[in-house]
Amino acid sequence: MSRALAGTEICVFDAYGTLFDFNSAVARHRSAIGPEADALADLWRAKQIQYTWLRNGMGAYAKFWQVTGEALDHCLAAHRIADAGVREKLMSAYLALDPFAEVPAMLERLKRAGMRLAILSNGNPEMLEPMVKASGLADRFEAVLSVDEAKVFKPDPRVYRLVEQRCGVKPGSVCFLSSNCWDAHGAAHFGFATVWVNRGRTPDDNLPGKTVAEIDDLSQLPSLLGVS
Ligand code: LAC
Repeated sequence: MSRALAGTEICVFDAYGTLFDFNSAVARHRSAIGPEADALADLWRAKQIQYTWLRNGMGAYAKFWQVTGEALDHCLAAHRIADAGVREKLMSAYLALDPFAEVPAMLERLKRAGMRLAILSNGNPEMLEPMVKASGLADRFEAVLSVDEAKVFKPDPRVYRLVEQRCGVKPGSVCFLSSNCWDAHGAAHFGFATVWVNRGRTPDDNLPGKTVAEIDDLSQLPSLLGVS
């Protein structure tokens, strides 16, 4: 186990892309979208995150649900998809995204070992709650924290501060997990012991904040924490 993780009191997970597969929305409606489904999925996620950073820069916070819809509208226009039914289907699917395959068993193992578990996400409560509930995993988490409380998106430090404010754990005792490299760097820079879940096997970003470990998916987390 890494020394930085030895004092872990709580594991805090990013939601979209880390616990929940945002591509499962497009995958479910692939035939309605047509051959450009994968390109649309990639652009949708890229625009969604870009918009959060740009809104942070402008001091123009809006709920992630709105931002997600505005990003989708751009992508539908870019791919010349005018069918309002497709928009409706994709937005509805975002409220019930699939957890990644290894997530339920991993949470079960950590929970059984007595680890405290929480989510910290850009998502607003009105979109996080139905998704967590639909996954059947709601009882694993003591808190589902949303940036909506801080009215600013990640990686603003006011977001990461919510963990101590709401769960009473000092940053150095928080193990933060994100598959989004920029979020992992933001969290590490803030002071969390951060593990980058590098699902895409991509090279690291050159940003402030040093992560303590890198794993391919969350099945490797229990052993990283010394949980059998
Ligand atoms: C989240 C995004 C960053 O859940 O994936 O916060």
